[in-house]
Amino acid sequence: MSNSPRTHAFLAAGLTVIGLGAIPRNAPAADSLHPNLWPQGSHSVALADTDPFVDGILARMTLEEKVGQMIQADIASITPADLRSYKLGSVLAGGNAAPGNDVRCPPQAWARLTGDYRRAALTAPVLGHVPIPILFGIDAVHGNAKLIGATIFPHNAGLGAAHDPDLIYRIGRATAEEVSAAGIDWTFAPTVAVARDVRWGRSYESYSESPALVAQYAPQMVAGLQGRIGTADFMSPGHTLSSIKHFVGDGGTFDGRDQGDTVISEAELRDVHAAGYPPAIQAGAMIVMASYNSWNGVKLHGNRYLLTDILKGRLGFDGFVVGDWNAHEQVPGCTKSDCAAAILAGIDMLMAPDSWKELYRNTLAEARSGEIPPARIDDAVRRILRVKALAGLFGRAATNASDDGEALRQLGSAAHRAIAREAVRKSLVLLKNEHGILPLDPHSRILVAGDAADDIGMQSGGWTIDWQGAHNRNADFPGATSIFAGIERAARAAGGSATLSRDGTFGKKPDAAIVVFGEHPYAEFEGDRETLEFALGDDHELQLLRHLKSQGIPTISVFLSGRPLWVNPELNASDAFVAAWLPGSEGEGIADLLLRAADGRAPFDFTGRLSFSWPATAMPVTFDAAGVVSGALFPRGSGLDYRSPRSIPPLSEDPAIPAARQAPDGSLVYGGRVIAPWSMFVADGGEQVHVTTERQRSPHDAVGVAHGPGGIAAEWGGSRRGTLLIIGREADLRALARRGGAVTLNYRIDRAPEQRVTLDMRCIESSCGAGASLDLTAAFKSAPLHRWRTIDVPLACLAAGHADLERVEAPFELATAGRFALTIAAVRLHSADSGAAAPCP
Ligand code: BGC
Ligand code: BGC
Repeated sequence: MSNSPRTHAFLAAGLTVIGLGAIPRNAPAADSLHPNLWPQGSHSVALADTDPFVDGILARMTLEEKVGQMIQADIASITPADLRSYKLGSVLAGGNAAPGNDVRCPPQAWARLTGDYRRAALTAPVLGHVPIPILFGIDAVHGNAKLIGATIFPHNAGLGAAHDPDLIYRIGRATAEEVSAAGIDWTFAPTVAVARDVRWGRSYESYSESPALVAQYAPQMVAGLQGRIGTADFMSPGHTLSSIKHFVGDGGTFDGRDQGDTVISEAELRDVHAAGYPPAIQAGAMIVMASYNSWNGVKLHGNRYLLTDILKGRLGFDGFVVGDWNAHEQVPGCTKSDCAAAILAGIDMLMAPDSWKELYRNTLAEARSGEIPPARIDDAVRRILRVKALAGLFGRAATNASDDGEALRQLGSAAHRAIAREAVRKSLVLLKNEHGILPLDPHSRILVAGDAADDIGMQSGGWTIDWQGAHNRNADFPGATSIFAGIERAARAAGGSATLSRDGTFGKKPDAAIVVFGEHPYAEFEGDRETLEFALGDDHELQLLRHLKSQGIPTISVFLSGRPLWVNPELNASDAFVAAWLPGSEGEGIADLLLRAADGRAPFDFTGRLSFSWPATAMPVTFDAAGVVSGALFPRGSGLDYRSPRSIPPLSEDPAIPAARQAPDGSLVYGGRVIAPWSMFVADGGEQVHVTTERQRSPHDAVGVAHGPGGIAAEWGGSRRGTLLIIGREADLRALARRGGAVTLNYRIDRAPEQRVTLDMRCIESSCGAGASLDLTAAFKSAPLHRWRTIDVPLACLAAGHADLERVEAPFELATAGRFALTIAAVRLHSADSGAAAPCP
């Protein structure tokens, strides 16, 4: 289907408000493009053996079978039995998907499940030709971390600090063994993003802000996962297909907003954000995942120039391009179940977790009508089959025994854990060590405090067991070691003692206190931040450090985070400070460096050096055209060790956030911008789309939004019910509700409502007080047109009882079925200034 009618209908519907910004485009302006800027690639993988085989199959495939290969569904929405009627190319287990819908199931259940899908694909009736094996994919982005008992390696930001390409290769190999042990063929890794604004919630998936380091690591991870190209190892059993992601510019979005717009020159796109691709392709990477982001206003999923002309053309990439999770729906004119534009742009396989069936039907119709030309279909399917053939899936198919459980002994093996522990040691960066307080004498009495001291979930971060990784407990990690347990073991072995006290209280005064604290787990946009101030709104760990120090106890901070954050007050309150990133399952790697051995010597020294600049203020560092960084407290490459002690002067405790950035606490929208970690979505007909561009329409056009200087203009067309909602990290609003808290909306009515307008809150696993929709129709109808107003809605009006507000996901959902338009300048959650609960509007 074509995109233009819908786009035009929306424009005609006339958001006549304020400057609407760039109209979303499907293609960059051709005269400004420079394909010759890009390196000429080498078609690294030899195809002489596979291509004749693949072409033989292709010649006998029906159009239905071809289109099926181009679609990937999530196991939460497709059963093995479905594969008998719909011969899809691939299934994935998304962040929250698992066998029997139980993310804590035993690994054997994974092995059985992958076997079920594999067998179903192979036994499906076929039209006189070889059955086509399915590809099973998973996000094994720091080890096969969705599986219980797997080795969990440090997230990439920590690995960057190790500056050790061989370590990356060995981690890749170990990960591949744990992935293939469960019968999984493919991991959506490595991420080769070069994160430039670490307010981005995915910064920890990036090895470095330095393209050179990413370019050095990417091929090693690919070689570790797949085996070295040109050797018998390549794609041999025990390996797994890699995918390099997210092509391209994911780490360069404006303000570090996930899925946002990367507004840079083509040369910078090539030199910075694409740096990992040529060497990874050279190392045999055969799958590239397209990115959610735009480049200069054009979504990558619709960007034919970058996907086809550059990646497949210039860079010589012979593998296939997989789309990201429903990301095609953000291409102008597309929905998640219909997007010829993405295929025409060069996506070969669409990740259509839940909408695969409708997408299959629509794509088939577009292939039949010729809207998607046969040559494009054949090219996509040839690429997909090529990868399956190279991975040995055709040969292995009939006898696949991956589900016998035997191989699962690889999971969390001692050898793999040893590599992970080494990685932890090498990733730690010592930022402060006054008076040589570290390494500690293990004979001393050590207090271990802080929220993360004994919390393997916090050590591991997002993409662990489930998508956000926010609800994991130590019992979910058999075989793993918390940071406290590692310190305790090392201290005891040396004749000393370590005591755990999360809140830092103690009986007998300790000789030293190790406080382990940092960011709570998050993934993707839920981790976006407005500023880099760590203690914003909650400084209890800082108070703990100060309290311990005031009693003359030497304090050592072990800081867990997915990125450098502004921690000047915490640095001042610590005698020693270790950036430990997200170390994963082997917490002992920390004790390895903090404590002397029983004989008095430090067994290991710090070798980790920052792969990201550490910011001097709560605003991110900036890069000039030559990559020179401004605004760093500790430049990239910094890191102390025991051989060369150095002390640091007291640091400024002014976060230096510019006034324009200072949204009041609890802001969801301020100054017409959505404030991170909140994101805006528009929804109708049971589907919702993330608003990541200046303008966005809901899937079926019921509501559209456009950003302008005055605010966010929303217009409902009256065709069906549409919702504008603000989603963020799960929030517990019970305390706020008890204090008479309210949602305040600062708005201007541009068109009076024709029908009922409601405000709701959405909670996880509950309805926030079933059916407590608040009717705002009268309030909006009585508001004068084009005049700014404020409305206060007490939380009590949105939930039946306070208890319902424990897990709020979307604190603001505005919906109507009739025509209606308003501009939103601010939305804020705050406690009642007077303390008295206001009446419901
Ligand atoms: C992420 C990808 C991931 C995919 C599958 C997407 O939301 O952007 O990195 O591989 O989901 O879970
Ligand atoms: C899925 C992830 C996916 C994310 C994208 C989650 O529900 O489990 O795999 O990356 O949605 O928004």
